[in-house]
Amino acid sequence: MKKIFILFAILALVLSQASAQKTKKASSAAGSKNQTIQEQPQETPIESNSIANCPFHALQQQGKETLQKVADYLKLDEAVSYAHNQYQTYKVPLQEYLHPHIEKYDKTDLALVWTVVVLVLTFLSSILIKSLKFARKNGVIAPVKEYLFRKVRKVPFVKRKIQMELDKTLKTLEEEVNKMRTEKMHRIPATGIKAKKIMEKLDKWNTRDSEFRNNKHVTGCMYAREDEEAIELIKEYTKNYLYANPLHFEIFPSAMQMEAEVISMTAGLYNGTQDTCGILTSGGTESILLACLAYREYARERGIKEPEMVIPETAHAAFYKACWYFGIRLVKVDCSFETGTVLVKKLKAAINKNTCMVAVSFPNYPNGNYDDVETIAAYCLSKNVPLHVDCCLGGFLAPFAENCGVKIPKFDFRLPAVTSISCDHHKYGLAPKGVSVVMFKNKHYRSHCMYALTSWSGGIYATPGLSGSRGGAASAGAWIAMCYFGYAGYRERAEAVFRAQEKFVAAIKQVPELKLVGEPKLGTVAISSNTKKMNIYSVHDLMLKKGWHLNATQKPSAMQFLFNYCNIQFVDNLIKDMKECVNKCMSDPSLNVDNKWASLYATAAKLPTSLVEEGSKVAIESFLKI
Ligand SMILES: Cc1ncc(COP(=O)(O)O)c(C=O)c1O
Repeated sequence: MKKIFILFAILALVLSQASAQKTKKASSAAGSKNQTIQEQPQETPIESNSIANCPFHALQQQGKETLQKVADYLKLDEAVSYAHNQYQTYKVPLQEYLHPHIEKYDKTDLALVWTVVVLVLTFLSSILIKSLKFARKNGVIAPVKEYLFRKVRKVPFVKRKIQMELDKTLKTLEEEVNKMRTEKMHRIPATGIKAKKIMEKLDKWNTRDSEFRNNKHVTGCMYAREDEEAIELIKEYTKNYLYANPLHFEIFPSAMQMEAEVISMTAGLYNGTQDTCGILTSGGTESILLACLAYREYARERGIKEPEMVIPETAHAAFYKACWYFGIRLVKVDCSFETGTVLVKKLKAAINKNTCMVAVSFPNYPNGNYDDVETIAAYCLSKNVPLHVDCCLGGFLAPFAENCGVKIPKFDFRLPAVTSISCDHHKYGLAPKGVSVVMFKNKHYRSHCMYALTSWSGGIYATPGLSGSRGGAASAGAWIAMCYFGYAGYRERAEAVFRAQEKFVAAIKQVPELKLVGEPKLGTVAISSNTKKMNIYSVHDLMLKKGWHLNATQKPSAMQFLFNYCNIQFVDNLIKDMKECVNKCMSDPSLNVDNKWASLYATAAKLPTSLVEEGSKVAIESFLKI
């Protein structure tokens, strides 16, 4: 690309110089003509303005400007100076070569030729800029694949075939979902059902659901042990807030007070200062969305028209979603398969004048490792770029790690570069589902994602987050949990998670066929295969059959597990079962072929993105259909 640009620049400079020479000649010729025809002053003004008025002079300027834009865009200032030096070297031989050719033409012909040349160059460079922008945004192979797919799928036969396949998938999924559904209701009952009957139905469902859960050791999604006294307390007292709406603080003052206190207590855990503030949200995704929105607006305030977000590839899907929702350009940076963390050098290189924010995970979801936040923070500070630390998953583990003897770097508001942090209460914070907090370094950052409408016919309207009305029960649950457990309670539970994880990590290191992704410390682990003879997804399948609910992750192919208060007591069983499954896979090669996860991810990688997305949406459709 550099070479093309250099050639392009040399050509443009040669042309412009040659044309300038020609014009100079023309004007000096005109000058001498002026001297000889001073007696005819009426012709002088036309000739003396000839350079400025010359049509191709303007176009030539435009061509130069366009080229400068290309150079700015590619950050190729050095290429321009290189091109200039090259030109200086070849100037004389080139001029000698070009002059006899140019001399042959008359001035009007030349003007016409240069006009066409400059026009073509301008046109080509604008196409080049557009193509570069597009390639930077979307890559090259994927859009080509996508484009061809869009064209091909318009062919009636292909269209029918794809629709048939999608319908088939939907039908299979619906059948699976239907197996778990009983006594379906499609329409509102004409008259209300008696409370006793409703309770009977719900009791039946609840018993069946808990049997379904109890037969499995679930990773993630469930954090709170049902037998905890606190959970009973939360269930009992949040019911008073089910119909409360913190938006109307004058009617539900305690609901609003609890929100404010949850934010403040959380900021304390993250070494916030007097200036630290936050917003209580419905979950990690909303917390992340709000941070991203704030930074997009903050960037706009600073004159950034096309904001870009730089994130590790392993950052949570919520960041990708934010880019889609808010029109931010996504710049994802590769991560190491060995360490599971972002490649810092690449991340630094991805930051430019359009970067509206950088995000790191502490830890990430796919493999439980945390990015090198200290180095990245120092760089962000030097570049004046806001930095979001995603602590959603480890929200109630990371702040206790140091105290539990787990060595981790600084990751919170102690780092001056950290401008926001997301922390989920509905995970290790043991609050009911639907609570997270996004914290900001100061009110200025936070104000950029708050919404206020003053001209509305319904009156002045303002909300902190994405939702309007929201229930008070979830935040009341978070408040009760934080008060009940206190620092010591969370610390004790976090320590149990760390010790179980350490035991597991040590055991896995002794299994030669298994490999940990990185050196995970904050509750989540990912295990990949250390040998070509064993497909990790086959081990995953066998573990599922043994009642372990692990996640099949990719890049690298691995199975991911989250230690939490519901499953840490089973760590010895987990190790034993995993070793058994590994042995089984190693001794029976037939188990290592035709694995559904392996083929799913491999097929997905080959297919056009839009088709895979359509397929994924079909799955959601099946859940939503009754
Ligand atoms: C690292 C990380 N960030 C964000 C989220 C999003 O949280 P939620 O599912 O509550 O929206 C998750 C969820 O697992 C996560 O692991």
